[in-house]
Amino acid sequence: MVDEVRQLLVGADVVVDMTLGAGGHAAALLEAGVGEIVGIDRDPEALAIATGRLSRFGDRVRVVQARFSEVDEDDVGGVAGGVLFDLGVSSMQLDEAERGFSYREDAPLDMRMAGDSAGEPSAADLVNGLSERELADVIYHFGDERRSRPIAAAIVRKRPITTTDQLAGVVAGAVGRRPGGPHPARRTFQALRIAVNRELEELTASLPHAAGLLGPGGRVVVISYHSLEDGIVKRAFRDDTSLRILTKKPLIASQWERADNPRARSAKLRVARRRDGGV
Ligand SMILES: C[S@@+](CC[C@H](N)C(=O)[O-])C[C@H]1O[C@@H](n2cnc3c(N)ncnc32)[C@H](O)[C@@H]1O
Repeated sequence: MVDEVRQLLVGADVVVDMTLGAGGHAAALLEAGVGEIVGIDRDPEALAIATGRLSRFGDRVRVVQARFSEVDEDDVGGVAGGVLFDLGVSSMQLDEAERGFSYREDAPLDMRMAGDSAGEPSAADLVNGLSERELADVIYHFGDERRSRPIAAAIVRKRPITTTDQLAGVVAGAVGRRPGGPHPARRTFQALRIAVNRELEELTASLPHAAGLLGPGGRVVVISYHSLEDGIVKRAFRDDTSLRILTKKPLIASQWERADNPRARSAKLRVARRRDGGV
């Protein structure tokens, strides 16, 4: 939804891109005339790639390795005209087999966006350490997976599970494979990724700060890919009296983008504007 983001943030002097990734949105904003991007990502590999790709913009780009829930005014160095979140995992992370996000390629079961630098538990730690009940709850809530109980039972029977292939095979064995259907482990992998990276906690903690980084008239734009995320964004905007909501209903990707990019089919964009005077 690059076009929508560009239109919404084009007038800003400074935009904080909370999910810099490969820098696609950041590059589009800089090309459109945004003065400066403060690019945040918890993933050091993403930051290295984005830094290279954005080097042509010189000192109009500043990158910070951090979780977005930790970002404060000092990182921004003033007020921002826009704050952008493009949530979830990047295609770069999915494509790097060794990071363990994908059920398509065999790798250690990791899924930590920040790698092992922060010493946080990996997907293997959760799969092998949670109780059957806890696993079923994670898979049900974060994966919208109604067969969570047989999947959790099969995982517990086959532990320890240390690779993506092993986990994908255990899930497929528990629930079967529909010819032509999506991979049966897709929802389980999504659920574990959300749990490992504490994605919903991060978003809940971060949105109230984000509004505080904006100057009057500044906009916060959030693209989410999961109904739980969208619900958090909707409530955070509604509860923040310093914000005026500009999207009563979330925007969705155009028909063309949806046809071209499967991930865009679940994307929802919400935007709110900081009231003049801040309240
Ligand atoms: C969908 S990608 C962003 C893609 C980016 N908009 C682009 O155009 O290339 C999401 C990025 O956000 C990062 N991320 C996710 N949760 C984060 C968090 N809580 N704190 C910081 N970065 C996070 C991921 O590491 C990933 O690189």
